[in-house]
Amino acid sequence: MTQSKKKIIDIIAGTRPNFVKIASLFNQINIISKIKKKYEFRLIHTGQHYDKMLSDTFFQELRIPKPNFSLNVGSGSHAFQTANIMKKYEKIILKKPPNLCIVVGDVNSTIACAISAKKLGIKVAHIEAGLRSGDISMPEEINRILTDSITDYFFTTSKLANMNLLKNGIKKKNIFFVGNTMIDTLKNNLNKLKKPSLWETNSLEVKSYYLLTLHRPSNVDDIKNLKKIISIIKKFKNEKFIFPVHPRTKKKLNQIRNFDKNLIISKPLSYFNFNYLLKNAKGIITDSGGITEEATFFKVPCFTMRENTERPETINVGSNVLIGNNYNLLKRSINEVNNNRWKKSKVPEKWDGKTAYRILNIIDKII
Ligand code: UD1
Repeated sequence: MTQSKKKIIDIIAGTRPNFVKIASLFNQINIISKIKKKYEFRLIHTGQHYDKMLSDTFFQELRIPKPNFSLNVGSGSHAFQTANIMKKYEKIILKKPPNLCIVVGDVNSTIACAISAKKLGIKVAHIEAGLRSGDISMPEEINRILTDSITDYFFTTSKLANMNLLKNGIKKKNIFFVGNTMIDTLKNNLNKLKKPSLWETNSLEVKSYYLLTLHRPSNVDDIKNLKKIISIIKKFKNEKFIFPVHPRTKKKLNQIRNFDKNLIISKPLSYFNFNYLLKNAKGIITDSGGITEEATFFKVPCFTMRENTERPETINVGSNVLIGNNYNLLKRSINEVNNNRWKKSKVPEKWDGKTAYRILNIIDKII
């Protein structure tokens, strides 16, 4: 088959969690020879995340190919980011339209490219479709609802996500419960996880410390919340808390001084370093969605600093609990882990490392 007869599939990625999700797709594209022969994959990097530690490092470690197109959109308001990605991706489609546009997750890059594609008559596939937190004040929830309302093929991480889609009137034949591409990537890279340099400098040992990640506007934009979480950590003088800081959080953190020695602040970590720390942590305090899934996979106790989650299986089946802004519950939860009383958990159905394989085989049948 000649190059020109190949069908074109665009894969969109813009932020750190997107890169983790698409890595397993590219890994499988290289393995399944019939897929490689029949399709031309174009990777579109929107540039929503552009810092070395949020972008380049992930491409290198996870062996993601160089993007075919870099939109370099950068930071800005939601409307600015979304509109600029839409305009730039539209130009690419008009020049050479793809047969399918694959978007992942719930970030501004996801909805922007879905709209540009759909309005030009291109079919859209959404990986991680059907997740709902029920909290419309979150920008990600708006992105999820809008993306799913114009998606053609829905790939889901849980049966609950299937139910959410069915409730919204999506036809069953277009919903595919395939599992979790983020867990594929984790399984593929387990033997490459490595100690960050802060391991030695802080004399860390396996299961001797907690991890902390915060980046949601609701936790970090209001400095009072950030201060409160830090004040709880202060109370656990004998515990170490490792805090790799997201750029959004750094801006606020710079306004707080007088951290105690038990709070170890670091720049964002690479994938291999971060997941080494997660796997070996006593527990993690986080407001990320993806990290609750990775903690569930590792069966590491996870305290989510949010009132709700779009990933309820991490609570029903996994190692996660919702803390919200109940700081007493956070204290109690840390004590429970210290006393070895955390709940027993399991890895959810189909989080088995074969999700990207399932997705590509389904796509091969439908387009
Ligand atoms: C975005 C996603 C969020 C996801 C998170 C993962 C949306 C609406 N939000 O949030 O769902 O969980 O990514 O990290 O899409 N910045 C840098 N360097 C970068 C990127 C951003 O310094 O490479 C700074 C900018 O000043 C920017 C701020 O971080 O204003 C926030 O970045 P932005 O892309 O707006 O959203 P995130 O908070 O990263």
